[in-house]
Amino acid sequence: MSMTVADCTTIRDGFPRPFPNTPTNVLEQFKMLGRVAVVTGAADGIGYAVSEAMAEAHADVALWYNSNDAAIKKAESLAQTHGIKAIAYKVDISDAEQVQKAIADVVRDFGKIDVFVANAGMAISKPILEQKLDEYQKQMSVNVDGVVFCAKYAGEVFQRQGSGNLIITSSMSAHIVNVPTDQPVYNASKAFITHFGKSLAREWREFARVNIVSPGFFDTKMGASPLAINEAYRMSSLGRQGHTKEIKGLYLYLASDASTYTTGSDVIIDGGYTLP
Ligand SMILES: NC(=O)c1ccc[n+]([C@@H]2O[C@H](COP(=O)([O-])OP(=O)(O)OC[C@H]3O[C@@H](n4cnc5c(N)ncnc54)[C@H](OP(=O)(O)O)[C@@H]3O)[C@@H](O)[C@H]2O)c1
Repeated sequence: MSMTVADCTTIRDGFPRPFPNTPTNVLEQFKMLGRVAVVTGAADGIGYAVSEAMAEAHADVALWYNSNDAAIKKAESLAQTHGIKAIAYKVDISDAEQVQKAIADVVRDFGKIDVFVANAGMAISKPILEQKLDEYQKQMSVNVDGVVFCAKYAGEVFQRQGSGNLIITSSMSAHIVNVPTDQPVYNASKAFITHFGKSLAREWREFARVNIVSPGFFDTKMGASPLAINEAYRMSSLGRQGHTKEIKGLYLYLASDASTYTTGSDVIIDGGYTLP
């Protein structure tokens, strides 16, 4: 039963909470000096753009990769160019033990984790009637299990620290049944992590913020396939895919003190694809 008007007039202990002690100047709010960010799927695409954004704002960055060891050279280059600390870690996020160990390694190497960007994902885009069960399980193991493992073990660090910030890369496919390629498993795996992230925003309300980014088509390896590209151009109000440089500001906003009142949000960044 909901509270009565009389119940509602009783002020709970500790409320309202104080405003955060953050700069009022908006450009100061975006600065990440002294912060530590972990990014999964960091070797290329959206994850590398996010790593670059963090480094450009002067955060130290842990770049997690699975198979693309270009992350090692890219970490060295980010460190040199921006005068920050950057280290690449090889982690298969579908393996809970590897995730747990890598999080401990990052804390050992950097001392803490301020921001964890659970960005890695994969797709085997097929109708369910053509999808093999091992293809279904593979997508779930990365897109769902992988994000759950990262959140669970990063969340333990956040709780211990009394602060933290989780950003999950979901997809517009969590909101819509994407066309023209039928890919129910991918769509549903992204819907899981969107609602999981919102749920964590409440569960972790005492010590961490959690937000979700839902991209439309971006020009990466996971962008629109040759079969879907014309429909991607037609459906997007802007008539094109996004460039990864166009998503950096959103992640920096969510990672930084510019977004201290933002938690549990799910930001669609899709060039207007999901408008109609
Ligand atoms: N591009 C789009 O149009 C679009 C739209 C909506 C959502 N997204 C989402 O955006 C995220 C990034 O994708 P992207 O577009 O930047 O494509 P991408 O460059 O192919 O990035 C996917 C990343 O996921 C990593 N990954 C895959 N399996 C992994 C595993 N088992 N363990 C650890 N990492 C693993 C890959 O690492 P390695 O290369 O090192 O193996 C790769 O860096 C994904 O979650 C994707 O679903 C993309």
